[in-house]
Amino acid sequence: MDRIRIRGGNRLNGSIPISGAKNAALPLMIVSLLTPGTLTLSNVPRLADVRLLQRILQNHGIDITVAGKRASQTGMGDVMHLSAKDIVDTTAPYDLVSKMRASFWVLGPLLARCGVAKVSLPGGCAIGTRPVDMHLMAMEKLGAEIAIENGYVLASAKKGLKGAHIVFDKVSVGATHAALMAAVLAEGDTIIENAASEPEIGDVAECLVKMGAKIEGIHTATLRIKGVTSLQGCEHSVIADRIETGTYAMCVGMTGGDVLLQGANANHLGAVIDVMQRAGVDVKVKNDGLRIHRNGAALEPVRVDTEPFPGFPTDCQAQLMAMMTMAHGTSIIRETIFENRFMHVQELARLGSDIHLHGDTAEVRGVKKLTGAPVMATDLRASVSLVIAGLAAEGETMINRVYHLDRGFETLEDKLQACGADVARISG
Ligand code: EPZ
Repeated sequence: MDRIRIRGGNRLNGSIPISGAKNAALPLMIVSLLTPGTLTLSNVPRLADVRLLQRILQNHGIDITVAGKRASQTGMGDVMHLSAKDIVDTTAPYDLVSKMRASFWVLGPLLARCGVAKVSLPGGCAIGTRPVDMHLMAMEKLGAEIAIENGYVLASAKKGLKGAHIVFDKVSVGATHAALMAAVLAEGDTIIENAASEPEIGDVAECLVKMGAKIEGIHTATLRIKGVTSLQGCEHSVIADRIETGTYAMCVGMTGGDVLLQGANANHLGAVIDVMQRAGVDVKVKNDGLRIHRNGAALEPVRVDTEPFPGFPTDCQAQLMAMMTMAHGTSIIRETIFENRFMHVQELARLGSDIHLHGDTAEVRGVKKLTGAPVMATDLRASVSLVIAGLAAEGETMINRVYHLDRGFETLEDKLQACGADVARISG
């Protein structure tokens, strides 16, 4: 199993190309189930999660080809052609869905296109229980009959889905994707209220509109959809990854230096930029991305709650916590989205951090120095928080279970090395 070795202490200088967003690419790939035409996605990040979803979709009968591979170049992404002319299997089996929760999202499109779907319940994961009750409520509102048997959701809508008024009592990215993907092919009008307005949902909605869907209110909390009978293929480029952007911004915040995050979209990062600036990191919006700069001055502590977009993203919480371990004072970070997303705290402690958990709140007391150690992580964002801490720790940090990182960060070690970090992948 690969490991990442970091020798901390180097400042970062240079530029980092930002890849296509994992959390937009995955639902966009799933959208291909809605049309017999060919969906061509560009700027698709080269990630383990993308490859896994490729396998899952191929299992349903989608023809997928990937072109434009330039293994040596980062930040350009793949071009992926997906063609679901014939859906040969409407079952998403446990052994695949349990490896990646987002694959549960095939439920809506399979129901909308085929009138039937059998999808394994995803189960829990390291960051929380993560139920799917709102996904199922949305499908039922749209006229599907739902039963749970042997760990599977059995859904059917023999006469097709019908437009409905769906009101979510909590903001959910996945349930909004599910409702939107199903409603575009339902008969009549659908209103989705309290929809998630994360940029990745806007990206999916814009792609659906290119395919012929009728959607109003894109990028807002109320989506109005007029169902159409069929959708066609289209070409669509995946938006830049705002979480990868925030992560590298925090790497620079941690080490100091001056880095241009090429292709980053500041409009998707308002809350992150605000927190970085409050911490004393200089963030400038440029034509070609975001420039992050910090000289030797100490980081100021911050008080932050994670929230749905446009609030501070839970997917940047672990990274912020790592950066704050060396701030000049005590930061307060409250996690409001997932109940168990503090698995990185114990590992950060191995590097010498001083963090105290009180329920959903972490009190991060800044320390003068961190020291390298072997660490391991339980999820993607937790792993990268250890990278951030390792970049500033004295000596060597060895990060085990790198497969978590490979799920969501394209060529992380190359991107950091190019800016002067001492980072290496140790194979085997
Ligand atoms: C998406 O997960 C992202 N995944 C997550 O990114 C991200 O952390 C999360 O949204 C929040 O922004 C992808 O886009 C592939 P939710 P999702 O439904 O859709 C509760 C990463 O690291 N809930 O918005 O699964 C749920 O338990 C990942 O890239 C219900 O109660 O998250 C949570 O508390 C991890 N019932 C809250 O809603 C439901 O039916 C928000 O979860 C659905 C969700």
